[in-house]
Amino acid sequence: MTSISRRALSVAITAVAAGLATPALAQANFPNRPISMVIPFAAGGPTDTVGRLIAQAMGADLGQPVVVENSGGAGGTIGAQRVASARPDGYTILLHHIGMATIPTLYRRLAYDPVNGFEPIGMVTEVPMTLIARRNIEATNLSELVALIRQRGEGLNYANAGIGAASHLCGLLLMKAVDTRMTTVPYRGTGPAMNDLVSGTVDLMCDQTTNTTEQIRAGTVRAFAVTTPERIAALPDLPTSAQGGLPGFEVSVWHGLYAPRGTPAAIVARLNQALVKALQDPAVASRFADLGTAPVPIARATPEVHRAFWQADIAKWRPLIQAAGQFAD
Ligand code: MLT
Repeated sequence: MTSISRRALSVAITAVAAGLATPALAQANFPNRPISMVIPFAAGGPTDTVGRLIAQAMGADLGQPVVVENSGGAGGTIGAQRVASARPDGYTILLHHIGMATIPTLYRRLAYDPVNGFEPIGMVTEVPMTLIARRNIEATNLSELVALIRQRGEGLNYANAGIGAASHLCGLLLMKAVDTRMTTVPYRGTGPAMNDLVSGTVDLMCDQTTNTTEQIRAGTVRAFAVTTPERIAALPDLPTSAQGGLPGFEVSVWHGLYAPRGTPAAIVARLNQALVKALQDPAVASRFADLGTAPVPIARATPEVHRAFWQADIAKWRPLIQAAGQFAD
């Protein structure tokens, strides 16, 4: 080794040891330690399930573990803030859902920038939602449930994962469709909310099929509708909301992966490559299918498509949320 290359190596080693690796060196070596994937909801819920599935497969491709860390609360804003303020080095990433499109309007005061604070890595899944209730609810189909909601109103408890959660958005749309308010009960995620629904502590919830399919099949909750235009293969007997008598009560959830703003493009590209590999993993695809969830087509799992879709979704939801007048502050 020449004295110049020895000196360069020694500078690099000193820089790495001090956490000051040159950007080029850090990018070339990425990743050389575990990556934290922040899930902004509680363990055991649908975002957690999606995150754990892709984290494992991404880790296999990256050669480093992708460690899931649940940072739930405040409708997904606590975990998002954590990632927005993390070092933009690719070692802290965020798996979030449609809340990334509704939070910029729902929250007028946040300690992070919900629109410009992130670099999209790629979209992950698209997930239908299902309207479910404790199994002994006094209704057996959607029209009876609508009548019950109109009759009992705030006497019914609707569980959600806080303002900004998909379950919150679905509840807003349901209450608008039925023109009746219920009492909302917020949780750190719909994983814990599901426990209370199964035990009958709360009455109703609208949640992603990732979390509800197995409970519906097991009969631990009663299902009333899937909130998509078509029935889904995982739950073929479940009518759509339109078939049940509530046309227009439709919403699907999407998930995306993000790095903090300023993360170098080469690192975003490497993370995207691992994401694409994970989405193509037959074991991941088959588990998603079993849970009524679909990975996005690979053409949509790019940072560019993700950014465009996310920005369009912010614009789509803004007027609807403003018209509902339901803000977090
Ligand atoms: C939601 O309602 O947004 C999700 O179900 C939250 C979660 O993953 O727990």
